Amino acid sequence: MRHSLLCGAAIILLLGCSDTVSFNTVVGKPEIDGRTGLIKRNLDLGQVKRGFTVYQANCTGCHGLNGEATPDWRKPNPDGKYPPPPLDSSAHAWHHSTEVLKKTILKGTPPEIGSMPAWEGKLTEQEVDDVVVWIKSLWSDEIYDLWYRNFEGK
Ligand code: HEC
Repeated sequence: MRHSLLCGAAIILLLGCSDTVSFNTVVGKPEIDGRTGLIKRNLDLGQVKRGFTVYQANCTGCHGLNGEATPDWRKPNPDGKYPPPPLDSSAHAWHHSTEVLKKTILKGTPPEIGSMPAWEGKLTEQEVDDVVVWIKSLWSDEIYDLWYRNFEGK
């Protein structure tokens, strides 16, 4: 009797979890970390590594060796455009869904607005997916959780 009650409680808990976060993305089905209550990242480590290779070959010159960019990224250049922002937790890369991040990388920003180059035709779609996963690997657990709940899991 005691045992079956516990099972029932466990099932309700599981259903409760999948109710609140039922979204499935390229990074895998989200799970909640029972200890911290945060959404687990479940990134594919092979993909993170491939993404870092893509990043190192194409992006470090502007966004820094580890996506940290420059501390002055909030200050516009004399031409009114902004310097490359950090891609880690400290700026606003995490204010965009996976789709928007991908699009920004593929299309870049229009030259009159910013100086992010377009990578369409230079990187494969797989390489762009990989580098987006690498960017997500930079975020803290708390930021990843916030990002998922606000920009991805809706
Ligand atoms: C020539 C410099 C340059 C290079 C090289 C470059 N970027 Fe950027 N990137 C920028 C700038 C500048 C911005 C901000 C654009 C704006 O202000 O609209 C930006 C913005 C971004 C953003 C949006 C960030 C946000 O907070 O909204 C992402 C994501 C990004 N870059 C990823 C990449 C990746 C991945 C690569 C390599 C494949 C790359 N960038 C290479 C200059 C660069």
